Order: sequence, then structure tokens, then C-alpha cells
Amino acid sequence: MKNMFGLDIKIAEKFSMEEQVVLFHGSCLDLLKDIPDKSIQLIITSPPYNIGKEYEKKVKIETYIKQQAEVIQECVRVLSDTGSICWQVGNYVNNGAIIPLDTILYPLFDDLGLVLRNRIIWHFEHGLHCSKRFSGRYETIIWFTRRTKNYVFNLDLVRVPQKYPAKKYFKGPKAGQYSCNPLGKNPGDVWDIPNVKSNHVEKTEHPCQFPVELIERFVLSMTNKGDWVFDPFLGTGTSIIAAILHNRRGAGAEIEKKYIDIARDRIQKAIDGTLKTRPMNKPKYDPNSNNNKMAIPPWDKKEKKLSLLRMLEDQGEYRCENS
Ligand SMILES: C[S@@+](CC[C@H](N)C(=O)[O-])C[C@H]1O[C@@H](n2cnc3c(N)ncnc32)[C@H](O)[C@@H]1O
Repeated sequence: MKNMFGLDIKIAEKFSMEEQVVLFHGSCLDLLKDIPDKSIQLIITSPPYNIGKEYEKKVKIETYIKQQAEVIQECVRVLSDTGSICWQVGNYVNNGAIIPLDTILYPLFDDLGLVLRNRIIWHFEHGLHCSKRFSGRYETIIWFTRRTKNYVFNLDLVRVPQKYPAKKYFKGPKAGQYSCNPLGKNPGDVWDIPNVKSNHVEKTEHPCQFPVELIERFVLSMTNKGDWVFDPFLGTGTSIIAAILHNRRGAGAEIEKKYIDIARDRIQKAIDGTLKTRPMNKPKYDPNSNNNKMAIPPWDKKEKKLSLLRMLEDQGEYRCENS
């Protein structure tokens, strides 16, 4: 792939404003040192959640907040005047108690003078099955800008199809005219986008990759062509990939060698145009309307109900319907 000026894109290892793609192997704080003040248009990331994943060491929550504060402060330094910071997080879990990480990280951004524009709920279907609470099926993305009205927000580029595009005004001066925006509707702040699990076309060995389509929506709406997109906790390179696909520049740091290798391979494929990604706005797979045999219960309905009732009786939990 060539850049906007018809030049071949290369993957640099050190940051310079002249580069197109920067993949830094090391700590994000070291990469941040080389990034000039107010030079980045979009900072988007999913930091470690401090839950003991293979790439993180679980530390006291106070230590975790301190570590995040250091990175966030540097990110705010490099954020452009019209730019956005999007921090994607889930829950920290301690002895079965959950702490939504966005609630404890919000004050760090607020103290640095940023303004929260949206708290986006990213809903997905797959994840761990809990037995002592409802299984977690969403995470959040908190989107901040500086205190300005002039932040970039290209809503038209990320509109989604209307449910009823043929709907018309039925009264008033516009009666009879179509009432929907022909470009589509605002996607809202609850996004239903499949997460990257085993059958996903983008799956690598990383346990928690972003789906590219999730980041494409941020890149398109919050940056313009040629702008910088930066991910301090890059993992498999997804944020850079979304940037490249839309003619933006991308930079990121990743501390683990095996993920840097995966990221380099995926980024090169994105440059060459051979990376397979799930297209933005592709409807979700529905096993029922696709006659998937796995969607048909193998057990007899009556037998299942009886065995469930027997189980509840054994536990002394069963009550008559009218009790
Ligand atoms: C939640 S994952 C991000 C995955 C990424 N969004 C993707 O699409 O693949 C967090 C990543 O941050 C990396 N990491 C942890 N501490 C880091 C640091 N100080 N600097 C750079 N990367 C770090 C971890 O190795 C891990 O791959």
C-alpha cells in the first residue's frame, strides 16, 4: 500500500513526525518521551486490566491506578487541541467483587482538565461463563476531549443504516417527506460488535484483541486523513491497522516480544492489502436464520423440563406456581 502521497509505507521502530507507521517494542512511557506535545489526534487503547492475564502482573489497585495515571498524563501532553482520548476497559475483579475500571480511571482524566463526551457500552456475546453473578457481556470506552467545542467529530462517516428508512413525517410542514437522514443514523452509545474469539476471522493468540471494526469507527469519526492515531498498549497492532486502512498514520508500543511479532505481521499485511478483517457494519451472524444445526437443541423439551424440576426439588428450591 502507498500512502496519501503515493509513497510506499514502511514500519519504523522509532517515533518521528515524518513516519507513517511506528511500531515500538518496549514500554509506552519510553515511546511517549519521543512524541512532541499536542501532536496526536486520536489516542485509543485498551490497557491491562490488572486481572492477572498472561501479559500482566496483578498489583494492588492503588499501584495500578498510579501506573495508569503516569501513562494518562503523558497521553494528555501529546493530545492535539482538537483530539480525542478513548480508554477501553472492563472490570477489575477481586475475590468475586467487581470494580468497573472506568469509574476509578475517570477522575484521572477529569483532574487533567479533559471532558467526557461519551461512555460507550461495547456489547458482545462471548466470554467467561459466571456461576455466582451474571456473565459479563459488555465493556466500556470512555471518550474524552480537551475543554473545547472544536474537537473533530465526523459523524457522517460512521452513520449506520436506519431501521425504517422509508418512514415519512405524518404531520406538520414536512408531512409526506422522508423523515430519516439518507446517510444513516447516529450509531448511539451502545455498540453491538462481535468480540474476537475463536471463530473470528481476526483471531490471533492474544487473549484480548480489539476487533478492527471497533477501532475503525473511532478513527473515521475522530481523525482526518494524515492524522496520527496512537495506542500505548498496542497488543497485536489493531489500532495501527485501523489507521492504515483509512489513510491515517499509526504509532504504538507493546512490551511483549511475541505480540510485537504478531503486530508487525498483521500491520505488514494491512499495508499489502492482504489482512483479513471483519467488515464494518456487517450484520451479526444469526445461527437461527442460517439453519445452523448447532442451534437446534438435541434434548427432548419435555424431558429437559422434568429433569430441571427434579433438580430444583432435590435442592429444596422448587415451589408450586401459586405458592
Ligand atoms: C489489553 S491488551 C491490548 C490488546 C490490543 N488492544 C489488541 O488489539 O491487540 C494490553 C497490552 O498491553 C501490553 N502492555 C502492558 N504493559 C505495557 C507497557 N508498559 N507498555 C506497552 N505495552 C504494555 C500487554 O503486553 C498487552 O498486550
